[in-house]
Amino acid sequence: MAAITSCACRNAFRQVRALHTGAVQNAEARLKTFSIYRWNPDKPDEKPYMQKYKIDLNSCGPMVLDALIKIKNEMDPTLTFRRSCREGICGSCAMNIGGTNTLACISKIDPSTSTSCKVYPLPHMYIVKDLVPDLNNFYTQYRNIQPWLQHTGAKETGKQQHLQSIEDRKKLDGLYECILCACCSTSCPSYWWNGDKYLGPAVLMQAYRWIIDSRDTQTKERLEKLKDPFSVFRCHTIMNCTRTCPKGLNPGKAIAEIKKLLANVSQKQQPSLS
Ligand code: SF4
Ligand code: SF4
Ligand code: FES
Repeated sequence: MAAITSCACRNAFRQVRALHTGAVQNAEARLKTFSIYRWNPDKPDEKPYMQKYKIDLNSCGPMVLDALIKIKNEMDPTLTFRRSCREGICGSCAMNIGGTNTLACISKIDPSTSTSCKVYPLPHMYIVKDLVPDLNNFYTQYRNIQPWLQHTGAKETGKQQHLQSIEDRKKLDGLYECILCACCSTSCPSYWWNGDKYLGPAVLMQAYRWIIDSRDTQTKERLEKLKDPFSVFRCHTIMNCTRTCPKGLNPGKAIAEIKKLLANVSQKQQPSLS
């Protein structure tokens, strides 16, 4: 009896799948143009250009990353871009889509076939190839803020827990979720012009994440390192960073909080658990 039921289920499933496949094959093609930035470091004399690809949306997943993968797999294996998780967690597929810095894997394709989808690498960065920006400076800046817990108390590292109250832990919400995609930093005009000396919103938000952590005792030293005309104070509160963050975070606010600490307008509170 069980065998008959599972056989019936399989047949029903096959029929449904055949119906869907038939419907897709019979549907009129919905050809959408993707216009994609290309540059090949192996041909340094050739200027960057936009290459157009037409994709039938009926046979493509819903996100821009689906379209890029389809192009790479079926049309042009030379197209180069970064991706990994395809669910907005790793931050590697950050690029400029339709004029906005965002993640290709969570960016829906506009179904209108009368307009093309323009895809560029993150703006104002050196380019490694096609849609791949050079993030070395960004990661060096991140390393320089020492993004790890530093505690000079009596606790033995690796042997005792650093406890934190629920209220103190809440202060990290909206900060720790950053996936370091660099969408915010590369949308910031101050970072475009002074990216060598201004740390940019992504790195500053992580600096703030460690500054206000109740378990970290290096607050004074961390703030001291940011006290120069460029590291923080090149932020002019333009707020492109907050507008563009694909994770809905607010790096502009974190920078404002650092400025208040640097100006002694506010103070880090004592941990509520000693
Ligand atoms: S703050 Fe947002 S945009 Fe900036 S790096 Fe983090 S996740 Fe990306
Ligand atoms: S608020 Fe500051 S960091 Fe954000 S875009 Fe404006 S200048 Fe850049
Ligand atoms: S592929 Fe990981 S965030 Fe898009």
